[in-house]
Amino acid sequence: MPKVTFLHNDGTEDVVDTDPGTSLMQAAMLGGVAGIVAECGGSMMCATCHVYVSEDWMEKVGGRSEMEEDMLESTAEPCRPNSRLSCQISVSEDLDGLIVETPRTQL
Ligand code: FES
Repeated sequence: MPKVTFLHNDGTEDVVDTDPGTSLMQAAMLGGVAGIVAECGGSMMCATCHVYVSEDWMEKVGGRSEMEEDMLESTAEPCRPNSRLSCQISVSEDLDGLIVETPRTQL
C-alpha cells in the first residue's frame, strides 16, 4: 500500500496510506489532509488540488498534460516547475514514499 506524505507550511505533515490506482487528490480527501480543496472533484476544472512535488520524485511522478499545464495557470499560489494537480497523479506502488508540499492556500 503506497504511503504518501503531505508537508504543510506550518511544519506539520500528514502521512496517508492509499490503494494503488487512487489519485493523489483522492488519497488526500480520504486521509483528511488539510490544504487540498479539490472543488471540482477531480475533473481538472478548479486547480484547488495544487501540490508541489518533492524534487526527488519529479521524474517518477512524470510530466503534466497540456490541459493540466493550462489549469496550473490559475492556481492561487505561484506555479513552479514542480507544480502538479494532485487529481492528475495516480498513486502506484512505484510512488510509495512520495513527498509533496501543499501550497499556503488553494483559493
Ligand atoms: S480537483 Fe479540481 S483540478 Fe484537481
